[in-house]
Amino acid sequence: MHPNPTYRTALEHPIFSLISRASGNLQMDSYVIGGYVRDFLLKRGEAKDIDIVAVGSGIALAKEVAKLLPGNPKVSIFKTYGTAMLKSQGIELEFVGARKESYTEDSRNPAVENGTLEDDQNRRDFTINALALSLQSDTFGKLLDPFNGLEDLEKKIIRTPLDPEVTYSDDPLRMLRAIRFATQLDFVIEKASLDAITKNADRIKIISKERIVDEIHKILLADQPSKGFALLHKTGLLPYIFPELVALEGIEEKEGQRHKDNFWHTLEVVDNIAKATDNLWLRWAALLHDIGKAPTKRFDKQIGWTFHAHEFVGSKMVYKLFKRLKMPLNDKMKFVQKMVLMSSRPIVLATDVTDSAVRRLIFDAGEHVEDLMTLCEADITTKNPKKFKKYQNNFKLVRDKIEEVEERDHIRNFQPPVSGEEIMETFAIKPSREIGIIKDAIKEAILEGTIPNEYDAAKEYMLKKGAELNLTPVK
Ligand code: CTP
Repeated sequence: MHPNPTYRTALEHPIFSLISRASGNLQMDSYVIGGYVRDFLLKRGEAKDIDIVAVGSGIALAKEVAKLLPGNPKVSIFKTYGTAMLKSQGIELEFVGARKESYTEDSRNPAVENGTLEDDQNRRDFTINALALSLQSDTFGKLLDPFNGLEDLEKKIIRTPLDPEVTYSDDPLRMLRAIRFATQLDFVIEKASLDAITKNADRIKIISKERIVDEIHKILLADQPSKGFALLHKTGLLPYIFPELVALEGIEEKEGQRHKDNFWHTLEVVDNIAKATDNLWLRWAALLHDIGKAPTKRFDKQIGWTFHAHEFVGSKMVYKLFKRLKMPLNDKMKFVQKMVLMSSRPIVLATDVTDSAVRRLIFDAGEHVEDLMTLCEADITTKNPKKFKKYQNNFKLVRDKIEEVEERDHIRNFQPPVSGEEIMETFAIKPSREIGIIKDAIKEAILEGTIPNEYDAAKEYMLKKGAELNLTPVK
């Protein structure tokens, strides 16, 4: 046990002595609390969001702080919550008055009364988030830790200050936060908490989709996202968020033929891709790359288990899933769809890597061809080291070939070497079907390798195709 250590080094930034001065002016106690203190003690680097709790009016303290700051920054006030926010020198400060809260069954919006620091620490989600540092001049930097949060930080435990049933039922979002922190920080959720989450899993229904997705993003961005998804699975939260993933679980056997468990396989793929990229949307693609496998699964006596067109079906499911989770249906969604749709293309290539197939792959994947290769490499989860090496080498060959072909043929941002305009002028024709036919024929000839991706060759090919269509050049 630590007898209230002092962490002045956490408060070296001049903003803290300024807040301390402002609190003194108002004869109000104030503390830094939550993520800033936690992350300082975990040495996770300087946080940009700082939460301040005032024993009194948080709004009054925010205004006093703004007065003392150069430029007198604007204070945003959220009256309903009794909180205030201001930004200064790239730091975001959130002020809240210490409070006692009680929640009702069907809402996250609590009834609030003023309270002491300890009341405020009590109403927080986890012991590691309830750690507070004093901003009073005589105790500046002293840690206030009524629930042994420091010990939990050292032991890497997620624990609630109150009975977990109360903490999670007060705000069911915390069930996801517990799993997110366990994943991000590589902590263990203590058993009583895990049981309470499991028991209350259906309460996640009252949480807005946006907040749920925020937590999923954070889980996906962790070093080992599978940890979070395994916990969502174990606690029974997964069906409320991703029924499509739940449907992938299990191994079926018919006539001695088995397929792999595509849920646990997916989690391995997500961990693999997390080692290769920080691109959140590519990580989403890894999470969803096999979702089409549940609805397309068939057993064929000759060939065994098949998942015919699962990539296509999966890419359609991506849209529905994004829509259900109220995620933006924008270019990010289209990127995930494209990755899912194309997820098997390089695999087919790996055994027979011809120039024309590579040109078609680059043409279809465009600027995302490397991302697609990263996804395919992450998809190798065989436990057979010989096979693993072989698949990896095959993809290495495809990558090399992509580089070689791209350098020569410039397919990535394909621009037709002969424009529609030029076709019209050459044959003195108006916009018509023929122009599309000729343009398409030139593109096909380039992808097939019949002609190089160059202007002269394309022009000549255009004349030849024109002749086939009974068009005569006028110049
Ligand atoms: N908090 C809580 N219950 C929630 C959300 C937040 O008790 N559902 C409390 C915690 O004390 C938390 C603080 O509010 O530390 C600030 O919340 P937030 O900024 O969302 O999280 P951080 O802990 O700062 O962590 P991160 O920035 O990683 O989200």
